[in-house]
Parts: sequence; C-alpha cells; structure tokens
Amino acid sequence: MEKTFRKDYLDLNMFRGLGEDPAYHLPTLTDRPRAWPMNRWAEAPRDLGFNDFTNCQWKGLRLLKDPATQSAYHNLLWEIRPRTIIELGIYSGASLVWFRDITKLLGIDCNVIGVDKNLGRSQIPESERDHISLLEGDCSVPSSLEPLRDMIKHPLLVIDDAHCNTFNVMAWAVAHLLERGDYFIIEDMIPYWERYSPKLLAEYLGSFQGVLEMDMIYANTCPQLDRGVFRRSDVEQ
Ligand SMILES: C[S@@+](CC[C@H](N)C(=O)[O-])C[C@H]1O[C@@H](n2cnc3c(N)ncnc32)[C@H](O)[C@@H]1O
Repeated sequence: MEKTFRKDYLDLNMFRGLGEDPAYHLPTLTDRPRAWPMNRWAEAPRDLGFNDFTNCQWKGLRLLKDPATQSAYHNLLWEIRPRTIIELGIYSGASLVWFRDITKLLGIDCNVIGVDKNLGRSQIPESERDHISLLEGDCSVPSSLEPLRDMIKHPLLVIDDAHCNTFNVMAWAVAHLLERGDYFIIEDMIPYWERYSPKLLAEYLGSFQGVLEMDMIYANTCPQLDRGVFRRSDVEQ
C-alpha cells in the first residue's frame, strides 16, 4: 500500500477570491436591447453578449457551477447516492442548497456540509437550511476540519472548491474521512496547475497511487471537473 500521500505539499493554488456580489442579478445587456424588435429578427446577435458563468444561479443565489458541471453532478449523484456531501468553499451557499435540492429530488437521503473560513458569505435564508450544516474551517489548517469526522455518513462526496492547500486537505481527507468508493473532487484548478506547475501536479497526484483512482467517466465531462474526480480505491492497512 502506498503511504506517499502523507507528504507535505506546497500549495499550488492561486485563487484570490471573487470579491464580487454573491447575490444573483439579472444580466445587464449593454450592447443590445433585451426586447429585440421582431422586424429586425434576422439581424439579432447570436451570442449572449455577457459572461454566462456569472449568470448561473439557484433560488436567487449565485452558483459557481456552470450547466455542464451541474449535468455531470446529476449523473454522479444518481450513481453514487451520497449520504453526505462536504463542500469546501461555500461562497453564497447556492451550491449547498442546490446539492440538497437535487439529492432530495433524486430520493437520496443526504446531508450537505459547507465549510468556509468566512461563513459570513452565506446568503442561505433560514427557510432553506434543512439538511444543510455550516462549519467554519480553514483549509490552510486541515486540523480545523476535524469536526467533520463526526458528521459524515457514507457514501461520501468531498468537493474542494476553496482552492487552498488542496493536496494537504486531500491527504487529510484520505486519512480521516474517505472510505472505499467515496469521492474527492478538485474543481477548476487542474488546468491552471498543469499550465504552471505540471511536474509538481503529476508528482502530487501520483503520490495518491494506491489510495485514490481517477474516475474516467466524470473526469472528462466538463471543464470544471477536468481530470479532478477521484475515488477512494482502497483502504490503508
Ligand atoms: C469558488 S468559491 C466557492 C463556490 C461555491 N462552492 C459554488 O460552487 O458556488 C470559494 C470559497 O472558498 C472560500 N475559501 C477561500 N479560502 C479558504 C480557506 N483557506 N478555507 C476555507 N474556505 C476558503 C472563500 O471564502 C469562498 O467562499
């Protein structure tokens, strides 16, 4: 059994936070009217004219998962039927409400736990807190995630969307949370790391050989999950 995942990893993340308004607002069209005249139908632009990523929302909260990612998660959730989803990095909290609603819709009894070093970002109204727990934790200090150990049921899905100290957090999750068949997903960052630190990236991921494997169905479904979907393959002896 490989034990190399217990090494110390440099933090490859370069995420500096969005700093934007986490509430959803209808897009502002600056270069065209929303009400396009029918007698100029043929001249209408055939693009959106705004960044559609900022237009993703759930129940009025900005959701930082694009439609292709949402679709990939539908399939993953349906297949693995998680009893617990932990998302590191909550932003507005939209993704927690979305995960809770989608799992409920699919008939999965699942608790969603959101972890953030700044829970003040949450805009989840009290009326939407059912099956959702919030935990203040800082991924730069994995021991601050300790309370999670008493909060989980399996199958478990852990998503790193905090983009901080990812590989040490992943090693901590392997050591303390993940059982065989559970998932750890790194959202968004793999293409950046591959561009800027390809050797370290391959080395760091390679060190999880024997404890994690990449799920080739979901790892190639959409850019946000690009080669970042890992399943616990075995349990350390
Ligand atoms: C990309 S946003 C999360 C988006 C959300 N999961 C979604 O899909 O809509 C990143 C979040 O990570 C949080 N974050 C940044 N550094 C962190 C750290 N060291 N520990 C915990 N959370 C952190 C930020 O406060 C922010 O809310």
